[in-house]
Amino acid sequence: MQYFEVTGGQRLKGKVTISGAKNSALPIMAACMLVDGETSLHNVPDLADVRLMIDLLARLGVKSHRDDDGVLHLEVRDEKNVHAEYGLVSKMRASVCVMGPLLAKRKRAQVSMPGGCAIGDRPIGLHIQGLTALGAEFELRNGDVCLQSKQLIGREIFLGGPFGASVTATANVIMAATLATGRTVIESAACEPEIVDLAEFLNASGARITGQGTPIVTIDGVDSLKGTTHHVTPDRIEAGTFIIAAAITNGDVELVNAKPEHLGAVIDRLQRIGVIIERCKAGMMVSSSRRLEPVDITTQPYPGFPTDLQAQAMALLSLADGNSTITEKIFPDRFMHVGELNRMGAKLRKEGPTVIIEGVKNLIGAPVMASDLRASAALVLAGLVATGTTQIRRTYHIDRGYERIEEKLTGLGANIRRLSE
Ligand code: EPZ
Repeated sequence: MQYFEVTGGQRLKGKVTISGAKNSALPIMAACMLVDGETSLHNVPDLADVRLMIDLLARLGVKSHRDDDGVLHLEVRDEKNVHAEYGLVSKMRASVCVMGPLLAKRKRAQVSMPGGCAIGDRPIGLHIQGLTALGAEFELRNGDVCLQSKQLIGREIFLGGPFGASVTATANVIMAATLATGRTVIESAACEPEIVDLAEFLNASGARITGQGTPIVTIDGVDSLKGTTHHVTPDRIEAGTFIIAAAITNGDVELVNAKPEHLGAVIDRLQRIGVIIERCKAGMMVSSSRRLEPVDITTQPYPGFPTDLQAQAMALLSLADGNSTITEKIFPDRFMHVGELNRMGAKLRKEGPTVIIEGVKNLIGAPVMASDLRASAALVLAGLVATGTTQIRRTYHIDRGYERIEEKLTGLGANIRRLSE
């Protein structure tokens, strides 16, 4: 079993290139099942989750390969299989994104219910609500969601859930509606940049989508879509993670290919903490003053503060000069990192969906356990600044969403090694 060993105390300096967005690449790869001909995707990160999606799509008849320039080419060769099995879906919740394309193009979909995970319950009622609203028949059979429809019909659909909009439910309904008859209007659609990127890919393939990035998205169905070339948008969560890495080590880092326009809420909060973030030609320059101010953060759907940076912000605020709070409004149970950060000397106290953070002078290296993708990143960030050495076990969590993180951090001067037990 592999683990990371991080020795704290190095200030990060230099340039880091931000990879393509995992949460944009995954739905776009699923959307390739809607198009006739070959799709070529540039800037797809080489991640465990991307390899899982390639495996799932291969079982669904999609042939794919990466060329020497790293461009991912995908083409549908066989449309017989429509079953996304539990074995794969349970490993990666984003597998649910194949539901909309299968239903729209192959008229049937059988996708295992994803079940829960370390960040909490992961229901898919909104996905089913949106797809049945387009006319699909639904049945739950042995833990699989079974949907079928001879022809989807566009209509107005409200897709708001108890925690606001759903990113992948919005993606599924947009994808299905591209081949439906007539107009679909989604109300309370997710506004994330990854949804915008998916819509731009689909429009380049011949779809007719407007309003992407706003809560009202309109899709006028077309008869078919054609393969195209698309450049996946940069990963705003990886960028946010490296901004916090620069801040927590009091470093001086240039992020190449980052899009500041995707990080408004994050930049707002971090600047209040005392992080200096400036736009530059390549992306963003980040440095920080020694003294970190406490702030209050609440996670919200985009353009609010992203839940995927909550754990990383908690690591940073553990060292602020005073008390901060973080309230998690998207996944109320997303606090597996609290206990691990406390093992490193943080003073965190959970009160329902809020964690009260009493700033401490420093963190102390310790053996800790990663629980989910973003919590793992938070533990690495804490290790970068902790006194002594931190061992972070279950590195497979972090490999799901960060491309070669230890190489990128080492390139900035961090002392991090990937070792095996
Ligand atoms: C996407 O997950 C991201 N994953 C998550 O990133 C991210 O944390 C999340 O959006 C929120 O931004 C991908 O895009 C692959 P949701 P998703 O549906 O779509 C509730 C990462 O670290 N809900 O927007 O699964 C749900 O329980 C991952 O990269 C329902 O109630 O999240 C949650 O409370 C983790 N019913 C809220 O909505 C539904 O049918 C938002 O979930 C669907 C969701």
